[in-house]
Amino acid sequence: MKPRILAFAGSSRAGSYNKKLAAVAAGHGRALGADVTLIDLRDFPMPIYDGDDEARAGLPPAAIRFRALLNEHQALLVASPEHNGSVTALLKNALDWASRTADGIDGLALFRGKTVGLVAASLSPFGGVRAVAHLRGILSKMGANVLADEVLVAAAHHAFDEAGQLTNALSDKLTVQLMANLVASARWSDAS
Ligand SMILES: Cc1cc2nc3c(=O)[nH]c(=O)nc-3n(C[C@H](O)[C@H](O)[C@H](O)COP(=O)(O)O)c2cc1C
Repeated sequence: MKPRILAFAGSSRAGSYNKKLAAVAAGHGRALGADVTLIDLRDFPMPIYDGDDEARAGLPPAAIRFRALLNEHQALLVASPEHNGSVTALLKNALDWASRTADGIDGLALFRGKTVGLVAASLSPFGGVRAVAHLRGILSKMGANVLADEVLVAAAHHAFDEAGQLTNALSDKLTVQLMANLVASARWSDAS
C-alpha cells in the first residue's frame, strides 16, 4: 500500500508561497511513490479557539474534517510562513482545535508518533527559520516525530517560476531529500 501523507501550508492567501512550496513537496512525494493529499486550510475555516465555545458547541465542523484527514494519513508535510518570528495564527489555531478531545477521540493521538516534515518560505533572507523552530517545538510537544531535515526558502517572491516550481536547484534537491525521508518513515510506520 502507498504511504499516505497529508500536506498543507499555514497560509490561506491565494498566492501563498508556502502553498506553492507545499505543492512542490507534494509533487516530489508522489514521484517517490506516496499518496499525498494536499489541502488548503482556507477550506477549513475555524474560529479562534475559545473554551466556552467548545464547551457549548464542541469542535467546529472544519476541525472535525481536519481531524478525520489527520487520522487517515501516516505522515504530515507542513509549509509554515513566518509571522513576527513565529508560526501563523491560522496554523496554530488549526493545531489547537485538532488536539482537543472530542467524540471520545484524543486529538493528540492524531499527532503522536506521526512523522512530520517541515518546510518554510518567507520574503526575508532567513526563510522562516524562526517559525520552523517554533513549529518543531509545538509539534514535538504534541508527540509528533519531526524530521531533522527542513527546507527554508528565503526571498520567496523570487524563488518560484511561473509553473510554481522552485528555481533554485539546491532548494529543490533538499525538498526531494526531505520528502524521501518522509515517505520512508511513513512506509515504516505502515509496516510496524
Ligand atoms: C503579520 C505578518 C508578519 C510577518 N512577519 C514576518 C517575519 O517575522 N519573518 C518573515 O520572514 N516574514 C514575515 N512576514 C512576511 C511573510 O514572509 C510574507 O507575508 C509571506 O509571503 C507569508 O507567507 P505566504 O506567502 O505563504 O502567505 C510577515 C507577514 C505578515 C502579514
